[in-house]
Amino acid sequence: MVKIKTQYICTSCRATYGKWEGRCNNCGEYGSLQEQSEGSGIGATPVKGASKGKSIELVSLKGKIAEAPRYKTGISEFDRVAGGGIVPGSALLVGGDPGIGKSTLLLQVAAKLSDSGKRVVYISGEEAIAQVRLRAERLQVENSDVELGAETNLSNIIATLDDPNKPKPALVIIDSIQTMWSDNLESAPGTVSQVRTSSQTLIRYAKAHNVAVILVGHVTKDGQIAGPRVVEHMVDAVLYFEGERGHQYRILRGVKNRFGATDEIGVFEMTGLGLGEVSNPSELFLGDRNGTTPGAAVFAGMEGTRPLLVEIQALVAETSLATPRRAVVGWENSRLAMILAVLDSHCGLGLSKHDVYLNVAGGLKIHEPGADMAVAAALISSITQRPLPKGSIFFGEIALSGATRNPSQSSARLKEAEKLGFERAIIANLNQKKAQKKAKSQNQLTNNSKFVVEEVDHLMALVAKLAANMT
Ligand code: TYD
Ligand code: MG
Repeated sequence: MVKIKTQYICTSCRATYGKWEGRCNNCGEYGSLQEQSEGSGIGATPVKGASKGKSIELVSLKGKIAEAPRYKTGISEFDRVAGGGIVPGSALLVGGDPGIGKSTLLLQVAAKLSDSGKRVVYISGEEAIAQVRLRAERLQVENSDVELGAETNLSNIIATLDDPNKPKPALVIIDSIQTMWSDNLESAPGTVSQVRTSSQTLIRYAKAHNVAVILVGHVTKDGQIAGPRVVEHMVDAVLYFEGERGHQYRILRGVKNRFGATDEIGVFEMTGLGLGEVSNPSELFLGDRNGTTPGAAVFAGMEGTRPLLVEIQALVAETSLATPRRAVVGWENSRLAMILAVLDSHCGLGLSKHDVYLNVAGGLKIHEPGADMAVAAALISSITQRPLPKGSIFFGEIALSGATRNPSQSSARLKEAEKLGFERAIIANLNQKKAQKKAKSQNQLTNNSKFVVEEVDHLMALVAKLAANMT
């Protein structure tokens, strides 16, 4: 193979060097030199004999579109997050902390797809064949036709995939991209340049041969090893697999998708036999609620197209510290500070002498501001040490003025709550324009006349309502 000439570029002053040096002589920065193949950097000098380029045909925006066909894996939680299945020829990145279950999920995906008659190649750069087989046995997929390979050299992988005696695979899984290395570069596997070059090569292969590629990427806090962020902009879709180590729930979250929506989540449960799908996540995140604990409020949230009910727990305790503690798990710290400030200045509930702990049950991370009201309700309940009204759910955004506002898709949230046996919703004020819509949504709810929707237009009204209703 022809060695591609490499050069080293200083990331702060763009000075170029023929060999690596610890310190840039030009700007004096330490450790800023990065390997790059010659001619690929910014301001690279054109290669001699490079083609002049030929004109391409420009077409109109309007035209026939072939609907992208998709490979459905049959694991519906995965398919939905991927935008309805894997698009042939696309590159997908599955990122997540080490040990969260990426290899497990992808082996299950590989086996399912292979069972439907597609050729699937699984390249493991981290585990030996025996280890992958052991996992397959545990997942009870050892009889599937997935073709395994334990390899980290990129050229070998491409040569294997290019085997003229075999049909092109439908899907190739690379576990993980950080272990791959190209012999065109001198740097160690896992460095930015190796990860970038390996991804580029694999993605180019995917596009050229209409083979879908899934890259696994570990999220690393250590700056030495390049994380999935380096790859994010190159791939068509980015899915993150998240969850708390101590919990069995795992959430697959779409953060980028050129072929679908990105706000979908897939919920899985890690069991002794691999990842199980959780088709009704609300039941999971509500856990073993008994409804009589002070400081617990149920938030009716939305994750993509799906409503999701989750318990929010607050604990307010007196403190002797000069600066009280504020600890949040599963929500934004700054958002909690804002709610506390509004409770203090508009409702007279000052908590400057109290520690405040906030936790979202089940290890879920909530990203929408619609949880404000539920957080406020949990806080009020913990301050007063009285449980919230039984069977009630909350949602609504709170402004700095204390005024409330409803998030989108109120009716889907209300329906989910009703479906799960809740009897009462305390929500923000639906504005005038939405009044008609609201009437409609209430009509849809009337098959259960027991379900009550109550609106509060200000945080103060919520405090008053709770004071009157708490047992
Ligand atoms: P793994 O898929 O290896 O994680 P990653 O590829 O993201 O690093 O999964 C690691 C954890 O999952 C490991 O601690 C064991 C657990 N696990 C189960 O609980 N049940 C199972 O069936 C399997 C295969 C793994
Ligand atoms: Mg793994």
